[in-house]
This record gives sequence, structure tokens and C-alpha cells, in this order.
Amino acid sequence: MELKAQALFPSVVWSTLFDDHTTLNKELLARAYELRNKDPSGVSRTNIAGWQSNNTIQQLPEFALINRRILQACERIAESQYFIPGLTFDHQAWVNISPPGASNQIHYHANCYFSGVYYISLDAPKCGSLFFRDPRTASRMMPFPATKQTPFTASEVRMPPEPGRLYIFPGWLEHGVEVNQSDSDRVGISFNVVARP
Ligand SMILES: [Fe+2]
Repeated sequence: MELKAQALFPSVVWSTLFDDHTTLNKELLARAYELRNKDPSGVSRTNIAGWQSNNTIQQLPEFALINRRILQACERIAESQYFIPGLTFDHQAWVNISPPGASNQIHYHANCYFSGVYYISLDAPKCGSLFFRDPRTASRMMPFPATKQTPFTASEVRMPPEPGRLYIFPGWLEHGVEVNQSDSDRVGISFNVVARP
């Protein structure tokens, strides 16, 4: 008997690693701490014990290169998913500086098509991973008695953090960040992306 398996409604996380991340991140790291120095209290959202900037990084010229790359990546994804041609992509971005002991509670981003994170500096793997929770909520009622996780049976999936790595996922996909158990700050840029005619 031949059984055919077909994935319906998959949740996709896209990622890329920038070749020039060493020089790019050195610059971004300096700019990130400058922002924190200017506004030491920051804003409080899903961050526990971490510092978060205002979501206005997209307007700052010193972050122009990473902003452009975030939008380019989202445009590529949108093209691959047959979005209407000619849409204008727009985003809001913010810096997260998560010191040892900091984490981000599980959440999702309403009112955007894509969300994501770009990693600037961290000490992996102890800095804590980005993790995603199964959006098929009814599946939590009766988890499968499996000995090994597969993309079908998993209820949570961790994505390894890495400097220079960009992750992009649909805004509705629930996610959080584990506690930073390293001795260094975990520094990244998070963002939400929309597209308009
Ligand atoms: Fe988030």
C-alpha cells in the first residue's frame, strides 16, 4: 500500500544569513547601544527584563541598509507566494537588547503580513532561542504519542540564533524568546511588515 502524505496549510519560517554580517553587525551594534543611551528606559512590550527601542528604526538613516534588506527579503517571499504585483512594502522595526536573564513572552503580531528578527550580537546557544508554537490550536487537545518530533507532531519548534541570520515568518505565528542564560547581551532588530496597493 502506498500512502501519500500532503502538508496542508503549512506554517513557513524563511531565513537567510548575510555574507557581510561581521562588518554590518559591528556598525549596527554601536548604533543599537547609542539608541539605548539616548533613551535608557525604552518601551515595554513583550520583553521581560530587556530593553526595547521605539518602533521607528525604519526612519533612521544609520539603519538604512538593514531596513532595505528586510524589505527586499519580504518582497521576495511575497513574490514566491503570488502577492498582487506592484504592492508597496512598508515596515516598523525596533532594537531589542536582552541582557542575561531577559526573555520575550509568547505573542504574535496582529495587523501585519510578516514579522521577523535580525540577529546582531549574541552568545549562542546559551543566549536563548526564538521558538514558535503550533498555531493549530485544536491539536493541543490530544497530542500524538510520538517518540520523536516531526514537523507534523511538534507542538513547539526552536530556531537557532546566529549573528547575521534573518528570520521572517507570518505575523500570526505565535513565538517567544527563551531566557538569555549566557553572560552577554542578545542584540537584534525585530520588525513587522505590511504591503499596500
Ligand atoms: Fe515578536
